[in-house]
This record gives sequence, C-alpha cells and structure tokens, in this order.
Amino acid sequence: MEKLKQRILEDASVRSTDVLNLDTILNHQVDPVLTMDMGREFARLYAESNITKVITVESSGIPVAFATAHVLGVPLVFARRKKTLINDPDAYVERVPSFTKGIVTDLLVARTMLSETDNVLFIDDIIANGDAARGLVKIIERSGAKLAGIGIVVEKSFQAGAKALREQGYRVESLVRISSLSNGSISFE
Ligand code: G4P
Ligand code: NA
Ligand code: NA
Repeated sequence: MEKLKQRILEDASVRSTDVLNLDTILNHQVDPVLTMDMGREFARLYAESNITKVITVESSGIPVAFATAHVLGVPLVFARRKKTLINDPDAYVERVPSFTKGIVTDLLVARTMLSETDNVLFIDDIIANGDAARGLVKIIERSGAKLAGIGIVVEKSFQAGAKALREQGYRVESLVRISSLSNGSISFE
C-alpha cells in the first residue's frame, strides 16, 4: 500500500535495529482516513472469503480491524489482554510473551464470541516474532472456527512471525513489509 509506505517514511522513526516507532499511525494516534483505506484494502483482499467475523488483539489492532469489519459488514471481536488470571472456564486463554514490553500477558476470548460456523479474518497492526499472533491463532483453532486468513498492517519481515504463519499454511497479507531497520533507516521489501 503505497500511501502507507509514504506515511511511514514521513512519520515513523527507528527506535532500534528491530523496533519502529509508529505512534502517530498505529500506537498512539489514528488517522481515520488512512485507517479506513487500510480497512478497505483488507476487505478487498478477503472479499471472496465469506468472512463472518473480524478478530484482533487489543489495543492498537482495534482501529484497523474495526475499519475492516465495517467495510465487510461483519462484527469485530477483540481479544482482551489480562495480566494475571484465575482459571476461567468460560473463556479461551493463551499466555503470550510481548516483544516490545518484555512482559507476559494472557489473551482471553470468551467462548460465546466464536463458534464452529465462524469464518474469521484476523487483523493485526504489527507483526514481529508473532507470539501474540500465534496465541490468537491457537484460540481461534480451539474454538472450532475457521481461520480464513490474517491481515497485517506492518510486517517486519526480518523477524520470523509472518513467515512462520505462512509456513503453517495460513494466508497472510501485509500492507507493507519492512525488510530492515539497520543504520537508522527503513527499508521496504
Ligand atoms: P507479534 O506482534 O509479532 O506477535 O509480537 P509480539 O507479541 O512480540 O508483539 C508485542 C507487541 O509489540 C505488539 O503490541 C506489537 O504490535 C508490538 N510491536 C512489535 N514490534 C514492534 C515495533 O517495531 N514497533 C512497535 N511500535 N510495536 C511493535 P501489543 O502488545 O499488542 O500492544 P498494543 O500496541 O496493542 O497496546
Ligand atoms: Na502494537
Ligand atoms: Na497488536
């Protein structure tokens, strides 16, 4: 998505060799027009997939997932992140480490949110090593819902997350792919 590439070049800053600051685009501010464009692009890519639900992880995935769900005309479910949890029999829970925060959290989706008749599109803002994504994929599988595909706004392709999901057989579509952040500069694939 050319417009997003341009916006990243204008607005994003390289925080380290593997972390990009995307606060003004994804993590701390949202441009509604650009975000709706992202949603339309994901909806176009998955137009033939008979999606019944969009799913994401709170919090930064929600705006673009909402935009996608709105264009597709389906509900959006967002997995909750909880710090500690007593065993909850009414929910699917997966424990995941966080790449940027260096902490472990639990992803939680109530059992009532997903069913075997669902065909789910998983939207996420950024994929690094894919720990959070793998956790949500596990939850979707445990629910019996079908995972039609995954849509990522920013794929850091020098990290293993998206590649691993593709190798598992999932369809993964990224709006932009960043191949390197070395020497303080952003390289696209
Ligand atoms: P994953 O996205 O590959 O699964 O990696 P991981 O679970 O390790 O990522 C944890 C968090 O770190 C995610 O946000 C992810 O979006 C964010 N992240 C990973 N790499 C970068 C990066 O280069 N820049 C920025 N800005 N964020 C990155 P989260 O924990 O879901 O938090 P939130 O943003 O939704 O609050
Ligand atoms: Na994030
Ligand atoms: Na996210």
